[in-house]
Amino acid sequence: MSFLQAGNIHKHYGGATALQGASLQVQAGEIHALVGENGAGKSTLARIIAGSTRAGQGRILIEGNPVTIASPVDAQRLGIGMIYQELDLFRHLTVAENLIIGNLEFRGGSMEAFCHPFLQQVGLGESARRMVHSLSIGQMQLVAIARALSMNARLILMDEPTSALFEDAAERLFALIAGLKQRGVAIVYVSHKMDEIFRLSDRITVLRDGRNTGTVETAHTSAAAVIRMMIGRDLEAGQRAPRPLGDVVLAVDGLSTAKLKSVSFELRRGEVLGIGGLVGSGRSELGAALFGMDRVSAGAIRRQGTLGLVPEDRRLQGLMMQMSVAENGTMAVLPRLQRWGFLRRGQELAEMRGVAGRLGLHCRSLHDPVATLSGGNQQKVLLGRWLLVNPDVLFLDDPARGIDVGAKQDIYRAIDALAREGKGVILVSSELPELVRCCDRILVLCEGRLTATFTAAEATQEKILAAATSTGGHA
Ligand SMILES: Nc1ncnc2c1ncn2[C@@H]1O[C@H](COP(=O)(O)OP(=O)(O)O)[C@@H](O)[C@H]1O
Ligand SMILES: [Mg+2]
Repeated sequence: MSFLQAGNIHKHYGGATALQGASLQVQAGEIHALVGENGAGKSTLARIIAGSTRAGQGRILIEGNPVTIASPVDAQRLGIGMIYQELDLFRHLTVAENLIIGNLEFRGGSMEAFCHPFLQQVGLGESARRMVHSLSIGQMQLVAIARALSMNARLILMDEPTSALFEDAAERLFALIAGLKQRGVAIVYVSHKMDEIFRLSDRITVLRDGRNTGTVETAHTSAAAVIRMMIGRDLEAGQRAPRPLGDVVLAVDGLSTAKLKSVSFELRRGEVLGIGGLVGSGRSELGAALFGMDRVSAGAIRRQGTLGLVPEDRRLQGLMMQMSVAENGTMAVLPRLQRWGFLRRGQELAEMRGVAGRLGLHCRSLHDPVATLSGGNQQKVLLGRWLLVNPDVLFLDDPARGIDVGAKQDIYRAIDALAREGKGVILVSSELPELVRCCDRILVLCEGRLTATFTAAEATQEKILAAATSTGGHA
């Protein structure tokens, strides 16, 4: 019998429909991926099961018995815990205090003795007295998991838990999840990252527009099949038409900075050059050096025309969140849009509209603040800014990170179109399939050195990973 059966769940927010008859069944001790594009209703369904959002309609059975989950306390009594994307911890309290507050299992006695086994289990055995705000995001997440365990959770819902984690913290989380499964704890793993889903889950339930489009056994399906269920159409075939290469537009020779060690390569017009490597391998520093933001200690950079850079962290380095889509998009071309010192608003909107169309940018109005857009659409605004500038070389630092598959496709299409127009594109990516799919050649960095170069045809995930972790330092 399933541990959880949620059926016919409906939820409206004002006029907006989030769920229209969604369902989810989870077996005891199973890792169940809940997937779908941004806005599909994943978080809403998870929150309803965890008691933090009320369903408009629907029914939930736990071990076959109908239950009412009207609050997180109800969920706790039924053995259900949730790790929220925005981590609902009290940051100015200690780790142990966070485990105790509102915990029905704690019935007095030593707080630390109560907490210790659960903190031990997640690898935070020494941290009971630390203030939560002094922890890393990854550690905070472990606190939230320890709290769920201390509440005797038999089902833990995790909403996109790796979205704010570095790779090593994500690895630690995956190991912990595997351990929880061993102990019979069921996990609902909300994500849209195919590699994680296929690595972790036993079964996958797919939502689209608030409805189920299928539940499949992970071992008997493929990423392509799941993506089809998510977006309701096939992705473009992986094989794109060949792109003609032109002159060298960027030549880098023996480039060294504080972080880079004698990096050399050439980029041609019409080429998409991938940069692979782990976080911290020097990928972003390469962009900074090319852009003149990092001091170059040796080597030469020769380039034709202008260079554009779409930075990795769109919130910190790129977008003004309270300003409108149009203002953010046209920021870099204002001189061109001004006449007699006045901004030609009509021209601004016309140019931005053209770019929005090209990128498949979704927003209600170009006057909306960028903060109201989804991550994928924010990324398109940033990319749109550079389409307006029309540079000869464009450095894109992990542009599809953390955005949904549909928006990813739009970005890949834009990259291909830019190359076909004769620009040279450098694409930094953490997602190996993305590199293989978008690029003509792939350079791999490890600890600031170039450790390998592959053509798209010869590159495999295994080879790239091997080069990204090799410290031999051969060119
Ligand atoms: N608190 C809210 N108020 C209004 N609309 C919301 C709220 N939460 C979610 N929605 C809407 O409900 C739909 C589903 O959202 P969500 O469950 O967050 O999807 P997902 O987690 O799959 O990205 C979206 O259209 C979203 O805009
Ligand atoms: Mg969500």
